[in-house]
Amino acid sequence: MSKNGENIGIVGVGYVGLVTATCLAELGHNVVCMDIDSEKIALLTRGGVPIYEPGLAELIGKNRGRMTFTTALEDVFRQCEIVFIAVDTPPTFTGDADLSRVFAVISALPGLSSSHHILVMKSTVPVGTGMKISVELARQEINNIDYVSNPEFLREGSAIGDFLNPDRIVIGCREAAARQRVAALYRHMNAPVLETNIPAAEMIKYASNAFLATKISFINEIANVCEEIGADVAEVAKGMGYDKRIGSHFLKAGIGFGGSCFPKDVAALKQIAGNSGYHFQLLTAVIEVNELQKRRVVNKLKKHLGPLTDKTIALLGLAFKPNTNDLREASSIVLASRLLGDGAYVKAYDPVAIPDAARAVRGVLLCDDTLSAVEGSDAAVLVTEWEEFAHLPLADMKKRMRQYLIIDGRNFLDPAEVKAAGFTYEGIGRS
Ligand code: UGA
Repeated sequence: MSKNGENIGIVGVGYVGLVTATCLAELGHNVVCMDIDSEKIALLTRGGVPIYEPGLAELIGKNRGRMTFTTALEDVFRQCEIVFIAVDTPPTFTGDADLSRVFAVISALPGLSSSHHILVMKSTVPVGTGMKISVELARQEINNIDYVSNPEFLREGSAIGDFLNPDRIVIGCREAAARQRVAALYRHMNAPVLETNIPAAEMIKYASNAFLATKISFINEIANVCEEIGADVAEVAKGMGYDKRIGSHFLKAGIGFGGSCFPKDVAALKQIAGNSGYHFQLLTAVIEVNELQKRRVVNKLKKHLGPLTDKTIALLGLAFKPNTNDLREASSIVLASRLLGDGAYVKAYDPVAIPDAARAVRGVLLCDDTLSAVEGSDAAVLVTEWEEFAHLPLADMKKRMRQYLIIDGRNFLDPAEVKAAGFTYEGIGRS
């Protein structure tokens, strides 16, 4: 082990777990990564990387000597005193988080842990879960395990930077010694460390995501009003963002937020409030605005093209945002389904997400590049602001398209450039 490194276990090497494991190895710790998915563990052991995240493969390669992979939970608890839980907590049909994978680990603990351990929760779990787990540990008469809540604030596409240069580190725990031990893992980082209790740490995660989602739905509603009154939402957001109390981040209007976090966490926080008798009205509106926003492009297309039956629409981008192949809750999925429902033909191209798209967007003709996607189409819709779409091959697109309409779902294109090439341009909230 390196001089100041700890042996750290990571249970669950999905997106959050693998990034956390790799970055902890980069900080000099020895990391034992465990997952029940034997194919994933075999791939990682062979040197493969199961997810697309910029810089991750390189960082795993660099720290390979400090990372081992296993399917056996016993290996983790035998070698590591500090064990992170990073299993997924998908939403159930009620909007609650499914904690079965978390509790599968907790119920396996009696057979695993004879010495002292610190269990660090990285998975996003509803407020109250830490207390529930403490009660469960007490019920099982396990008193050699301390529980710490240490939420993650990683964005897909920039997760490594977010981990290594965080805005803050949040550590919730009842026992000061365990709290300090976890804080010490991050001691070389230049970020404020908030030491607090478990419910507050859990709430900070949900409240942060819900606030950011609220900001997006807010600016999307401002965009919709801007369309009525002839203002440009990008200018409005810029003017608002100069106010330090508002800030310029997360004020980009578009066709709604997606991904594995915001939709799930906003629904879960609404549910947490509801389960304890409080109706969180604001979040209800945030969710509804987002759902409607994903569908607004359909009306924009109809405005220009009339009924969409037998029209061909090209979607540029499918991933829920650039620099990821993640299609979970992507606006593209809702949009494609609506267009197909209206009788349109839908073609699509995404620089990275095509291999995963076949299952997610059935009925869509997946293409290898922008030009094949727009071939014979009546309109192109920019859905994901991939860098390669910043300067579309407009002249060549014009030769291939049937009608010259571009809907910019992310206000990413230069309207003057698009119009100069002979296209009708429409963005979101851009007059
Ligand atoms: C989000 C949070 O930003 C992270 O801090 C958090 O750790 C993570 O969820 C999580 O809970 O694990 P992520 O889902 O990767 O990260 O993506 P974001 O970059 O936050 O974008 C989310 C969605 O909002 C995307 O669909 C994006 O297109 C949309 N968005 C973002 C906007 O429509 N407008 C904006 O101004 C910003």
